[in-house]
Amino acid sequence: MDGVKGRVCVTGASGYLASWLVKRLLLCGYHVIGTVRDPANERKLAHLWRLEGAKERLRLVRAQLLDEGSFDDAIMGCEGVFHTASPVIKPSFDPKTEILEPAVKGTLNVLRSCKKNPSLRRLVLTSSSSTVRARDDFDYKVPLDESSWSSVQLCETLQVWYALAKTLAEKAAWDFCNENNIDLVTVLPTFVIGPSLPPDLCSTASDVLALLKGESEQFQRHGRMGYVHIDDVALCHILVFEHDGANGRYLCSSTVIDNNELVSMLSARYPSLPIPKRFLQLDRPHYEFNTSKITSLGFKFRSIEEMFDDCIQSLVEQGHLSLHTAHQRPTFKVAV
Ligand SMILES: NC(=O)c1ccc[n+]([C@@H]2O[C@H](COP(=O)([O-])OP(=O)(O)OC[C@H]3O[C@@H](n4cnc5c(N)ncnc54)[C@H](OP(=O)(O)O)[C@@H]3O)[C@@H](O)[C@H]2O)c1
Repeated sequence: MDGVKGRVCVTGASGYLASWLVKRLLLCGYHVIGTVRDPANERKLAHLWRLEGAKERLRLVRAQLLDEGSFDDAIMGCEGVFHTASPVIKPSFDPKTEILEPAVKGTLNVLRSCKKNPSLRRLVLTSSSSTVRARDDFDYKVPLDESSWSSVQLCETLQVWYALAKTLAEKAAWDFCNENNIDLVTVLPTFVIGPSLPPDLCSTASDVLALLKGESEQFQRHGRMGYVHIDDVALCHILVFEHDGANGRYLCSSTVIDNNELVSMLSARYPSLPIPKRFLQLDRPHYEFNTSKITSLGFKFRSIEEMFDDCIQSLVEQGHLSLHTAHQRPTFKVAV
C-alpha cells in the first residue's frame, strides 16, 4: 500500500471496470465508498470484500441511478468521485428506458449529489471512446483525439444506443459541471480487456469469451476497434484524479486494430482455440486514436498481446474456457 489517502466514492462498484478500480484505489491507500444496487447480495459482492484493504477501508452503500438523491450519502464528504455506473447491456425492447435514461438522467443525479458536497475536489467520469468515433465527417488520415465528438444525429440514425447514451451523458456532465464550477475530468476507454473480478462476466467480457469459443457475431459487428487493458483503465482514472494538471477529456486506448488482424493475432497465439478465421469487411471509415494527451502525463499502455494473455489466463483459471493443449502458456492452470 502507498500510504493512507482520503475518501473517494466509486459508483457501480460491483461492475467489471469499477471492481478493478476499487482494487487499485484500495492498494493506493484510499478509503472507498462503493455504491451498489443491492448491498445484501453476498454472491455479487464477495469479490470486493476479498480485496486487499477492503475490510479496513471499503464501505458499500445502496444507490440507484434513477432514484433522485440516492447518491447523496455515499458522495457527501468524499474528496473524489469516480462515476462509472451506466448500463452496458444489449437493449431488449426499449433502449430509451433501458440505456439512455439511466446513463443521462443517472449521471445528472450523481452530479447533483456532487454539487451538495463541499469536500469534492474532482469528479472523474468514465465515458467511452464511442463518444469520439461515431461520426462520418472526419479525415481518416488524422487520428481522432479528445476534440472529436460523436454525432448525435448519426447515432440516432444508426440506432447505436450505447454510443448515443454515453455521448449525451458526457455532454450533460460537461454542461452541468461548467455551470456549477465542478472540477470534472473524463476518461474515454476503448474496449476493455482483462481479467474479470466479479463472479458473472459483464456484457463485453462475455463477448470476448464468445469470440474465443468461435462465435463471430459480435466481433463481426465491431469491425475496427480500440482495445485497452483493464488495469490501465483503472490506473488512468487514478492518474487523472491525482494529477493537478489533468483537465478535460482523456482517450484511454492502447491499440486500434481491425477484427481480422485481431483474430489472426489471437489464433497464432492460441492455436487450440476455435477463434473465427476471418470476418467480412465492413464499409466503415478507417480511424486511429491520438492518445498523446494521456501519454504526455507519463502514462504507458500495455500491449494488445498482454491484455488478451491476461484475459485468457483468467478465463481459464475461472473455468470459463479450456485450452485443450497445455503448451501455449506454461504458467496456466489448465481447466479440465
Ligand atoms: N467494458 C468496456 O469495454 C467499456 C469501454 C468503455 C467504457 N466503459 C464504461 O465503463 C463503465 C463500467 O462498465 P463495465 O464494462 O464495467 O460494465 P458493467 O460490469 O456492466 O458495469 C456497469 C455498472 O453500472 C451499474 N448500473 C447499471 N445500471 C444501473 C442503475 N440503474 N443504477 C445503479 N447502477 C447501475 C451496474 O450495476 P449492477 O452490477 O447492479 O448491474 C454495474 O455496476 C460504464 O460507464 C461503461 O460505459 C466500458
